[in-house]
Amino acid sequence: MIDSRHFGCMPDGRDVTAYELEHDSGMRCEILDLGGIVTKLFAPDRRGSYADVVLGCDDVESCLQAPYFGALIGRFGNRIGGGRFSLDGVSYQLETNDGDNHLHGGVTGFDKVLWKAEASEGEEGPTLKLRYRSPDGDAHYPGNLDVEVVYTLIANGLRIAYEAVTDAPTIVNLTNHSYFNLDGHDAGSVLDHELRIDADRFTPVSAALIPTGELALVEGTPFDFRVQAPIGERVDRTDDEQIVRGGGIDHNFVLNAAGTFARSAKVYAPVSGRTLEVWTDQLGVQIYTGNFLDGSVVGKGGTAYPKRAAICLETQHFPDAPNQPAFPSVVLRPGETYCTTTEYRFG
Ligand code: GLA
Repeated sequence: MIDSRHFGCMPDGRDVTAYELEHDSGMRCEILDLGGIVTKLFAPDRRGSYADVVLGCDDVESCLQAPYFGALIGRFGNRIGGGRFSLDGVSYQLETNDGDNHLHGGVTGFDKVLWKAEASEGEEGPTLKLRYRSPDGDAHYPGNLDVEVVYTLIANGLRIAYEAVTDAPTIVNLTNHSYFNLDGHDAGSVLDHELRIDADRFTPVSAALIPTGELALVEGTPFDFRVQAPIGERVDRTDDEQIVRGGGIDHNFVLNAAGTFARSAKVYAPVSGRTLEVWTDQLGVQIYTGNFLDGSVVGKGGTAYPKRAAICLETQHFPDAPNQPAFPSVVLRPGETYCTTTEYRFG
């Protein structure tokens, strides 16, 4: 079932619409045409009672100020050092919006623009197709980039399928920045949530959170989640330089199953019994433990989200890939189609 309602207005007066998707299974979510923001996502606990498990906001102004809650990220998820890269011998200087770095597509990334939305009933559940043309020069990226993101509410979760084409060589790295708290968006912290990631390596970062280029083994570090472990055991480890730099975990993990659609991460919340599995064909996942949240963002129902209120699992290519010769390429050329799928499955 699909419903829509007026959510609010953009600063320039354009309407923002909220689409409510409901699956026969009972799963429900709400997605905006603004930024493709997933504002609500209801999943059942061990007794079958539903709670809204994503952080979000009730109005446009808060959505535009929030740190990417539930939003689509582009053109490039995570950081590009100095906002600089070169492609085919041409140097580009992107907008910088994170100190000297370019973060999540710049000042007006895909999270802050209105997408063209089309809702329909699909075979597996209700879908919302979102389209956006990022013009040549947007945030100083080359090429017109046509992006299509299809959200499908499946029986046990949310599928996100991304596609993009360009008319000039460019770089692309799309993701979704949902913040999950499996006990409910207003439940407080995720320190007791247990995390498992099928990654033998991660990408350590400099003090500016730019990858050093190394693909380091997780073995013997707080980044070893090959066996499920509580997040709280790891994020305050002042004896680990990487944890200190991130203010917790704010790192990209190199997925063992890279390139094959597989279950790559799992979160378990002992209180509610809810689980979240991340299925993806991506090469990496940025795990971010809400380190910068400080209660200043007022979310749904007036909830002030504190530090560690949620965990993000952003499936992606590696941060700063355009400047790291050892990282897989993020270049998209005319005639090619960028294509990737991620599913967040609940249990
Ligand atoms: C990403 C980044 C973090 C932070 C959050 C949003 O996860 O890696 O450093 O910018 O987004 O606050």
